[in-house]
Amino acid sequence: NKEPVRVAVTGAAGQIGYSLLFRIASGDMLGKDQPVILQLLEVTPALKALQGVVMELRDCAFPLLADIVTSDDPNVAFKDAEYALLVGAMPRKAGMERGDLLSANGGIFKPQGEALNKVASRDVKVLVVGNPANTNALIAQQNAPDLDPKQFTAMVRLDHNRAVSQLAEKTGQPVTAIENLTIWGNHSSTQYPDLSAATVDGKPALDLVDREWYESQYIPTVAKRGAAIIEARGASSAASAASAAIDHMHDWALGTPDGQWVSMGIPSDGSYGVPEGLIYGFPVKCRNGKYEIVQGLDISDFSRGKMDATAQELQEERDEVRKLGLVK
Ligand code: NAI
Repeated sequence: NKEPVRVAVTGAAGQIGYSLLFRIASGDMLGKDQPVILQLLEVTPALKALQGVVMELRDCAFPLLADIVTSDDPNVAFKDAEYALLVGAMPRKAGMERGDLLSANGGIFKPQGEALNKVASRDVKVLVVGNPANTNALIAQQNAPDLDPKQFTAMVRLDHNRAVSQLAEKTGQPVTAIENLTIWGNHSSTQYPDLSAATVDGKPALDLVDREWYESQYIPTVAKRGAAIIEARGASSAASAASAAIDHMHDWALGTPDGQWVSMGIPSDGSYGVPEGLIYGFPVKCRNGKYEIVQGLDISDFSRGKMDATAQELQEERDEVRKLGLVK
């Protein structure tokens, strides 16, 4: 019997939290043999709503749910956490400039980075979901100097899963037939869903679809899926975002299937000419709790242009948070 591990989730009373917590507690993230202690962080006014979620979690009588801690203090919620899913963030409001948004989120992710640095497990795996996810991850990372920078990641897995699903639908194949596509760059409309190395039932994806569809329909459909969901549902994607967060942590902790890769937002080591330090979507393989960038992929001129454009956006975001003194 395994010892329970501590999993911290911020923004736990929000929409994503409402789907995510139940999946973690049922064993979808870390395996059906791994008990968990949920450590839930919310802002003070949301603690009452969070108590309601906690009541429901208890009412599920999940065999793997060993305990639940709630707090409005990150030093409590992150204490000894092995996994931290940073979901709570300041959403963009009408009329807000990017600088305002980044500054508001700095007020959240700087203290959370500091708290992780102080109290979390020295091996904590951090996933930032709250937007702008890549740059929020950078802020948290830069304020946690005692942790390995590689412990901080951002979620592009929802984009990855959307890209898999769109390609499966187009080619009339099950999602399980799709392998090795990549989301490069920022979790934003500049992301690059890349099919250059992707296969469908072992055949090159780009031999099966026409280039025109790929460039002018597929890429924008994947990149703008979030807006399409808000338009249809009247609320932003929450269950699919939670599911992607489960997938990201699951694969990081337990490994990717042999020969396959997934997309994770991780600190660039300069691979593929991506400026070092940016938290950028890369193709990665995971094993023994560590991820590694897939090397040696061919980058066409088309890919280069897309990859540079999304890197450029992330550099601008980094410049902005540097000006605000949130990162070095
Ligand atoms: P929501 O507004 O329903 O929930 C957010 C929760 O975070 C609220 O309960 C709020 O009280 C809490 N919160 C705010 N500041 C906090 C702080 N400092 N500490 C702890 N909790 C705090 O939003 P939802 O739908 O759950 O989305 C959460 C975030 O995830 C948003 O930023 C959204 O843009 C982002 N998102 C990211 C995706 C991705 O693919 N990376 C996909 C979908 C959403």
